[in-house]
Amino acid sequence: MEKAKIYELISKMTLEEKASYVSGADFWHTDAVPRLGIPAVMVSDGPHGLRKQDDEADHLGVNDSIKAVCFPAACATACSFDRDMMFAMGADLGKECQAENVSSLLGPAVNIKRSPLCGRNFEYVSEDPYAAGELCAAYIRGVQSQNVGTSIKHFAANNQEYERMNGSSNVDERTLREIYLPAFENAVKTAQPWTVMCSYNKVNGEYASQNHWLLTEILRDEWGFEGYVMSDWGAVSDRVKGVNAGLDLEMPGSNGANDALIIEAVKNGTIKEETLDECVYRILNIVFRYEEGRQKEVFDREADHEKSAAYAAKCMVLLKNEGVLPLKADETAAFIGGFAEKPRYQGGGSSHINSHKVTSALSLADAYGKILYAEGFPADKDEYDEQKAAAALDTAGKADKIVVFAGLPDSFESEGYDRAHMSLPACQNKLIGELLTLGKPVIVVLHNGSPVEMPWACDVSAILEAYLSGEAAGKAEMEILYGKVNPSGKLSETFPLRLQDNPSYLNFPGRGKQVNYAEGVFVGYRYYDAKEMDVLFPFGHGLSYTTFAYSNLKVDKEKFAPGETVTVSLDVTNTGSMAGREIVQLYVSDKTDVAVRPVKELKNFVSVELAPGETRTVSMELNERSFSWYNVDKKEWYAADGTYEILIGASSRDIRLSCEITREGAEELIPVIDADVMMGDLMSCKKTAGFVKNMIAEYMQAFGDQQSSETKESAVTDEMAMSMQRFMPLRSLRSFSSLTNADIANIVEALKKVVSE
Ligand code: BGC
Repeated sequence: MEKAKIYELISKMTLEEKASYVSGADFWHTDAVPRLGIPAVMVSDGPHGLRKQDDEADHLGVNDSIKAVCFPAACATACSFDRDMMFAMGADLGKECQAENVSSLLGPAVNIKRSPLCGRNFEYVSEDPYAAGELCAAYIRGVQSQNVGTSIKHFAANNQEYERMNGSSNVDERTLREIYLPAFENAVKTAQPWTVMCSYNKVNGEYASQNHWLLTEILRDEWGFEGYVMSDWGAVSDRVKGVNAGLDLEMPGSNGANDALIIEAVKNGTIKEETLDECVYRILNIVFRYEEGRQKEVFDREADHEKSAAYAAKCMVLLKNEGVLPLKADETAAFIGGFAEKPRYQGGGSSHINSHKVTSALSLADAYGKILYAEGFPADKDEYDEQKAAAALDTAGKADKIVVFAGLPDSFESEGYDRAHMSLPACQNKLIGELLTLGKPVIVVLHNGSPVEMPWACDVSAILEAYLSGEAAGKAEMEILYGKVNPSGKLSETFPLRLQDNPSYLNFPGRGKQVNYAEGVFVGYRYYDAKEMDVLFPFGHGLSYTTFAYSNLKVDKEKFAPGETVTVSLDVTNTGSMAGREIVQLYVSDKTDVAVRPVKELKNFVSVELAPGETRTVSMELNERSFSWYNVDKKEWYAADGTYEILIGASSRDIRLSCEITREGAEELIPVIDADVMMGDLMSCKKTAGFVKNMIAEYMQAFGDQQSSETKESAVTDEMAMSMQRFMPLRSLRSFSSLTNADIANIVEALKKVVSE
């Protein structure tokens, strides 16, 4: 509906109607104003399936929803590194929404995986903001291609469940801009989600739901967000502040309590009526967009189940394979572990899908090979049972290869609380150890939403990380185990050797409603790389049944100016004997030494399907942002002149090709000129260097004259004096020379003139 028409409707609404309209009519519906023809629309979770609740509503996955299809969770889909797949899955979900009359799907959830312990990591995409942004933007485009909205969540810095509803995530601005906000930024700028869901937590002391800086200055003014912001369920603290900050819709509502506060605030001028009108407009605009774009769709659960299996097979990550996979149909495999029968394929909480059916690996056994089965340990708890273990060892003894279906029980990770540790249930580790004593190849298939420690990693012959791969997980597992599908997923997060290695370890999850993101931008591989630490499996790692060679790296320009894009291309060859897909990663390493930066950062990726022997050229683009860091002083993104290394990797720790390119013509980074400016910054700035050199020469002379000849010769050389001055503020000349306050002020003015010329 046109803007003017919507505003005409708003002009006919009473203040009471408007106040009521900006909160949900019930748990899942927006309000209706029948006398004006304003319909109520429904929203549902999300993100990897439809959790449409008809009867008893709740936001924690407690009560049932309609039978639906559970697609792989984001922890898995992220490993596809496949924008097209994300789009396709989004479009499937969009069609399901149309069929079920759901106007917006509450997802994607794109919070950065700061700690492996976050209970909700299974719903989140990556530890890397570029990967998270690209993949979620593609998903959003997919859902919205079906005229259904998305709600990218949880905005912002909601990276743990502990005290999630009232804790403050204390994050410096550069870290927010470079790590925690870019996924949202990318999605908003390139995919325009219809809605954004603000998070429960505070960001630097202010609730996200009433944070003007986040909801208005950044989201709307800087990024150009056009939709409406809804609260997470129950995230509103001060509703009046929220309206003024840019929170349009309170969900699920407050039984009228906040409506009354809004009415009072409009009457006493705390909220301008135009501000409330804008909130109403933004919601109505999306409601009518959905109403006008209604499509006739059928929710074909069987077809979507098959699609879910195909997506899952693209996501699973082969972490290790010492030539034991794929399994052959004529060898006997012993499947051990309750997860073979009951795969864990989704996490708990608001994203929990009431799956219409589930395919386990074991249910397909007859179609694939000679398979024996013993439960060994249960899928739902940590319980070592001597008899079950003995039976498992007996069964395994009769097989050529042992496949252990392991993973985390539901209670180990869920929305609402964080994990207490990074271990698998002890009963599983124990049985794996015992199975290894049989001396047969042991293959482990893992079902978990976030990294686990693997004390047996060196001893087993293969590890397949299935993550939480949706209701058809078992089919995808069998296709990969038996080589019908060549695995091609790669990790979108690092698996550290142990929890203590993680950069957030000392500051997760905080205490007393405060969590300090003290590791700054050094999240995930950015930290492990900087510390040159060994990890269990690095970011971007994933094996295939074939091999790939990289060659012929080219850049379209060796020198590039601000605003110019750089196109990087290379050839990828399938050097093995099976068709396969390779994910090629492009990292940029800043060699200019102008700011503290991670060793390298992912700035693009591409995947390519190749037949045996086939070579294809792939290309990836780099833009201004690919080289930039966020300069807090200037409040802008900045990339200095100088050298940048382009690194092409099969993983973050398997860099195959590299070259250097040079940036020229960037505006120089001028230090903030005041009495506190450091001499070193003035000396290394081209614009001020000459001026300062002269000034220092004079001062050195004065300083030198005051010293004894012995000190001059040995204690402080000229070079040392210069080095010391690097960190001296201009004002300190007051103490070390005859300069007065007035002189300093004059120098500041003169410097300001110099830099403005
Ligand atoms: C979750 C959201 C979810 C909402 C509605 C909240 O508890 O944090 O992700 O969309 O409930 O179920």
